[in-house]
Order: sequence, then structure tokens, then C-alpha cells
Amino acid sequence: MPKPLIIITGKDGQLGFELQQLQQQFSSEFDFLFTNRNDLDLMDAASIEAFIRQHQPKYFINCAAYTAVDKAETENDIAFAINENAPVIIAKVCNEINCQFIHISTDYVFDGEKKSPYLPTDAINPLNVYGASKAAGERLVVENNDKAIIIRTSWVYSSHGKNFVKTMLKLMNERDEINVVDDQIGCPTYAADLASAIIQMIVKLNNDSLLNHSNIYHYSNTGNISWFQFAQAIQAIAKLNCVVKPIASASYLTPAKRSSYSVMDTSDIVKDFGVEIKEWRNSLELMIQNL
Ligand SMILES: NC(=O)c1ccc[n+]([C@@H]2O[C@H](COP(=O)([O-])OP(=O)(O)OC[C@H]3O[C@@H](n4cnc5c(N)ncnc54)[C@H](OP(=O)(O)O)[C@@H]3O)[C@@H](O)[C@H]2O)c1
Repeated sequence: MPKPLIIITGKDGQLGFELQQLQQQFSSEFDFLFTNRNDLDLMDAASIEAFIRQHQPKYFINCAAYTAVDKAETENDIAFAINENAPVIIAKVCNEINCQFIHISTDYVFDGEKKSPYLPTDAINPLNVYGASKAAGERLVVENNDKAIIIRTSWVYSSHGKNFVKTMLKLMNERDEINVVDDQIGCPTYAADLASAIIQMIVKLNNDSLLNHSNIYHYSNTGNISWFQFAQAIQAIAKLNCVVKPIASASYLTPAKRSSYSVMDTSDIVKDFGVEIKEWRNSLELMIQNL
């Protein structure tokens, strides 16, 4: 009997890269097809349906996204095409061919007004275009595919690709002192941990096709910190001499507005899928070792 096929978009991104690292470990159970923009361009609406129908996957993980948060403020159309239109097409086709769709979303769907961890059921109210495009995608994915799973994650980093950790390490090697905002609280996510959680979810779904699950889950490492505290930890773990100073967001203006609080409650994904979630600092240490 052929193995179930998992299609994964965004293979050159952080999460797509980390999923590729798991391919060999799970190759006896699943076939994998990783795609980048050249294999499947999410801007090309017409080709998405044809691609999925041609390959008939059992699982489809959409890691590709328009992720340039500040640029999205001026590239509204492109952000919505990739983060709203494309996931909706995928959701519809997956529904028709009975393929489990797993879509990745963001803490930026929230406005940060809450003072305790956001639940998957909390009201969304994005503050910027990127968040609005992801929120629109979420809503229509669920409307068009009641079995779809959306995983919201936050502050993603990996040894591969561009992210806060690598930027900090570069700046800390170049400068004696850096300023980092201290009034935005969230939780980092090591993409390798999220990749492993997603595969565990698929294994569980594959073993139990009747498994009861919700549409929306939250996943980040555990804990909550400011970007300043995150930078301090990076500096300490990497043993760099640079001085890290806290500043207010008001003195570090960016085109896109950021929320001051985006910690998410991850208990549902633990309860329904039994995934274990590592503490943020342990994962950061591992990532820096892996560099
Ligand atoms: N990074 C974060 O801090 C963060 C936080 C919360 C949620 N998320 C979500 O987590 C998911 C994974 O993020 P990530 O950090 O792995 O993102 P990433 O590193 O920016 O990777 C995104 C990938 O999407 C691809 N892509 C963009 N436009 C495309 C198109 N038209 N067709 C096909 N592929 C396209 C990119 O390809 P190119 O390299 O060719 O552009 C890139 O490889 C995304 O849904 C993101 O919204 C990320």
C-alpha cells in the first residue's frame, strides 16, 4: 500500500527547513513533497488546485506565507494574495479530496490588549496589514474546510533563515552596545520544536482518523519575555561582550504597529495531541549550539 503523502510548502523558509530535517526519521510512515515558490507559486491561484489534485496528498502543511511584516504595510495586495487567497484555495481543494489541511498562522491576529495568555477562542483584532491578511486567511480557511487545523505561532526562529536571534548575534558581534524594546511581551518559538509538534500531530491523526480536534491551536515554547529579555539571553548563551539596553517601542518606530502582549495559551495542543512543549530558554540554547 502506498504511504500517505504530506505536501509541505515554504521549504526554503524557517519552518519548512526544519520539517525537512525530520523527513528521514518519518520516511517509513510517510512520503514527503516539499515545495518552494518555483514548484508551487502561491500567487498563481490557478496552479494551486491543479497541483494538489495531481499529487493527491493525505496531508498538506502550508508553511509558506508573506512574512515581511513592515513591507506588508505597502504591499497589501501581495500579502492578502499569499496569506488569504492561497490558503482558501488550498482549504477548498483539501476538503474536496479528503486531505487534512494544516495551516500556520500568527500571534499578530491579536491586538495585545489582553493581560493573560490568549486562548484560541479569544477575539482577534489585528493591528497591522500582515496580521489582517493572516486573520482573513484563518477565517476563510475554517469557513471552507471544517476539518482544517490552524496553528498560530509566535516569534519564530531557526538556525536557517532570517530571524531575531541571528540578527542579534550579528549585531552583538559588530557593536559594543545595542538597544532592544522592552515593552512588547511574547514567547519565542524554535521552528525545530514546532516542526516536531506538527509531525507528531500528523502521526496521531494518521493513527486515528476519527480523532476529535478543534480548528485553531496555539503553539510557542513556554514562558513569556520581552524582546529585550530575549536579547539578553542570546547574549548570555553566546557569551558575547555587547551591552544590551532596554528601550521603549515609542523610541523604535516601525512601519507596522506591534502588539505589546502576544503570549498564547498552548494547553489545547498539549491536551488534544499530547505534544510536549519545551521551555523557551532550553530551545534557544539548543539552537545556538546548532549554529
Ligand atoms: N517568522 C515568525 O516570527 C512568525 C511568527 C508567527 C507566525 N509565523 C508564521 O509561521 C509560518 C512559517 O513562517 P517562517 O518563519 O517559516 O516564514 P519564512 O521563513 O519567511 O518562510 C516563508 C516561506 O514562504 C515562501 N513564500 C513566500 N511567498 C510565496 C509564494 N508566492 N509562493 C510560494 N512560497 C512563497 C517564502 O519563499 P521565498 O523565500 O522565495 O520568499 C519562504 O520560503 C508562516 O505562516 C508565518 O506567517 C511566523
